[in-house]
Amino acid sequence: MDPGWSSYPEQPPRLQYDPCFQANATTIQLTSICFIQRTIMTNKKTYKPCDLVIYGALGDLSTRKLMISLYRLENAGLIESASRIIGVDRFDKSKDEFIAIARESLEMFLKDDIDPEVWDRFSGRLSYLAIDLTQPDQYQRLHAVLDTAERVTINYFAIPPFLFQGTCQGLAASGVLTKESRLVMEKPIGHDLQSSKQINDAVAAVFSEEQVFRIDHYLGKETVLNLLALRFANSIFTTNWDHNTIDHIQITVAEEVGIEGRWDYFDKTGQLRDMLQNHLLQILTFVAMEPPVNIKAQSIRNEKIKVLEALRPITSSNVEEKTVRGQYTKGFCKAKEVPGYLEEEGANTESTTETFVALRVDIDNWRWASVPFYLRTGKRMNYKRTEIVVYFKQLPHNIFKDSYRELPPNKLIIHLQPNEGVEIEILNKIPGIDGGIRLQKTKLDLSYSEAFKKTRMFGGYEKMILEALRGNPTLFLSREEIEQAWTWIDSIQDAWSHISDPPHPYPAGTWGPIASDSLLARDGRAWEA
Ligand code: BG6
Repeated sequence: MDPGWSSYPEQPPRLQYDPCFQANATTIQLTSICFIQRTIMTNKKTYKPCDLVIYGALGDLSTRKLMISLYRLENAGLIESASRIIGVDRFDKSKDEFIAIARESLEMFLKDDIDPEVWDRFSGRLSYLAIDLTQPDQYQRLHAVLDTAERVTINYFAIPPFLFQGTCQGLAASGVLTKESRLVMEKPIGHDLQSSKQINDAVAAVFSEEQVFRIDHYLGKETVLNLLALRFANSIFTTNWDHNTIDHIQITVAEEVGIEGRWDYFDKTGQLRDMLQNHLLQILTFVAMEPPVNIKAQSIRNEKIKVLEALRPITSSNVEEKTVRGQYTKGFCKAKEVPGYLEEEGANTESTTETFVALRVDIDNWRWASVPFYLRTGKRMNYKRTEIVVYFKQLPHNIFKDSYRELPPNKLIIHLQPNEGVEIEILNKIPGIDGGIRLQKTKLDLSYSEAFKKTRMFGGYEKMILEALRGNPTLFLSREEIEQAWTWIDSIQDAWSHISDPPHPYPAGTWGPIASDSLLARDGRAWEA
């Protein structure tokens, strides 16, 4: 069953609105629009107790992200009291050793202090089981710890994809799976369409599609979800969201980090597969999709797939004109000198893997005819910044032309991270009595930290884990979406494989290669500064 978000509220949704604007000459601050919506997070533990089994419990994902997210959920009282967390990995560890590792993870990655009471509750749920996932007979050990009669088993694969198939088979053969069991999978789900199909087939041989929860952690980000609210709960946007009013849209996911000791993974993957195939295309589908019939998983997925199907293919015939690949060289990030990609530890100095991508994307459907989407993402850029900028069209006629030959277009800027918020850039008259009308760009500025001061912001992983525990598929990806995205990405990757030139170099700490500016300049446009 797909409960969508409608199953969460204990009360019917209410909208509280305080139309109070504080204006001054240059900025208009939208201070208190308080939107009490169907809460995605409630304090009610409405789900059946779970056994959350983390495969790869001693690995990076588990120790860096999952442990702190689970602890935070514990702190918020959102983990069902009888639920348990079982770490599985191939190394022999006692339960106490695993608990000590979890504690270390929190000390290292949790920004807040560890609350002794919360820690007692949390550590009380932890246990550990050593299983070498490549050894089919070892899966039997799960019988000794799982309680499939009273609890739902959530199998969380925090393991490399080459283990997915064998682990599915091992679980099936051991007889621990029931119709209620779930599988949570992390990207990368494949390397291309073919390998993704292989993984999905192996999973489908054991789990039904309803039992599978494929994570893209960007869909757990508050601001990405807010795109649904912004677009489909505000008539100002629903009626101004197509080729009639929009000139073009830019999506930037700039990372300050380099490859963080992940040379082997990253060099085989590259930024196109690591970030664009999933996170940027997901953001794009939220921005471009048609209104879904409702907010249930299937309705949203249907609309996202239609966008992916409408992406104009990039092939050898247009790849040079539509794409830019870059690779960082040494430079400065936050005033600290950092090595270039080819100087990173373990680097193959001949590598032509891209650490930066910029694309012009066209969506061949009625709504977006002749509206380009420009996407860029890179490692070691100037600073971390994820944002969407919607540029509206010029006015058909300018009544201020005596003073202003051209009026700058309105812009909607959605800051996804950090400094989450929404800004609208508009022109206003500068107050004065000199007779003329002097215009100035001003901003309607909704900052999340200001507007939702008292609201606890949940991290992407916290939200995704909680939704998996609750069995709500709304935020997770379907097989079809992933395969459609790979089809489009494979065509670019294939076209690149026929280009002999290496990626354009760019110094670390900048906004990418000059060629990325040229990509927009050719269309008479520029990246948002
Ligand atoms: C991951 C990528 O999916 O997302 C990483 O594998 C990247 O390379 C990370 O750094 C970025 O996530 P966030 O949440 O920090 O923007």
